[in-house]
Amino acid sequence: MPGGVSRLCCVFLLILWVCTPQCNARYGCCRPRYNVPQKPDPLSGLVFLEDNCVLAFRATAGIGRSAYDRYVATGTNDDSPLARSALPCGCLTVNGSLPCDRHYRSRILDDWPSSLIDTVRVTVYEDGVAQRFVEFNGMDSTYLDWFAQDNVVDSDWTDVDTDTTNFFSIFGLVQPNAPTLRRFYINRNFGGCNIDRGWLLVAEADDVCDFVPPGPYPVILYSSATTDANLNTADFRQADVLTVTVKFKDTARFSGYCIP
Ligand SMILES: *[C@@H]1O[C@H](CO)[C@@H](O)[C@H](O)[C@H]1NC(C)=O
Repeated sequence: MPGGVSRLCCVFLLILWVCTPQCNARYGCCRPRYNVPQKPDPLSGLVFLEDNCVLAFRATAGIGRSAYDRYVATGTNDDSPLARSALPCGCLTVNGSLPCDRHYRSRILDDWPSSLIDTVRVTVYEDGVAQRFVEFNGMDSTYLDWFAQDNVVDSDWTDVDTDTTNFFSIFGLVQPNAPTLRRFYINRNFGGCNIDRGWLLVAEADDVCDFVPPGPYPVILYSSATTDANLNTADFRQADVLTVTVKFKDTARFSGYCIP
């Protein structure tokens, strides 16, 4: 009988282990769940998440360097073995509490094989926990133009695909004299700083509006509501990490040298 019980227990533990869901249904499979460093693919150097998803970019708050400048720094990446040898492991996680002194940039941003790309997702994190995401159709896009309202296919902001916007771009708003330097910017309306409403921005320098806290920059700000929010309210919070992840089509293969 005790043997039977321990066998039962083993079977139970095995089922638990096998069945622990690897994907959260609500977030789909492009949700990077990892809080431990991911092993890059030895061949490509890319960081594969589950289910044909790749980490394309990870912005780290407060490191004193521009996330946007890194994003558009074509021809440079953190995937080569040499770059990897100097890369803190924390940069291959989504956990901003782990040490990382840079914005991780994959060479996917240079190649951007859009015919193979299904969706692109932006996610903001606090202490390794996903807070909000927007998922975009990535087909026929460039590495810069997928981030547009017309391409939104899913989000936990219920209104970001339909509501009025005055900014929706990676480039954002750059005004040296105002001053403003807001990237990855999804905003609803202006009207004087105190009534500005929006969803997301990455502030990279001192700003004319007080809702951008003094650095160190970048400061990643997002609406923690399920809709847009007034940027001056407690609904607007700071994230420590912003990721861009790419989900490839199921038909995409990475092992071959070419397609037949
Ligand atoms: C993120 O890292 C910190 C520091 O190691 C840890 O305390 C925290 O639990 C991690 N977050 C998650 C979601 O694992």
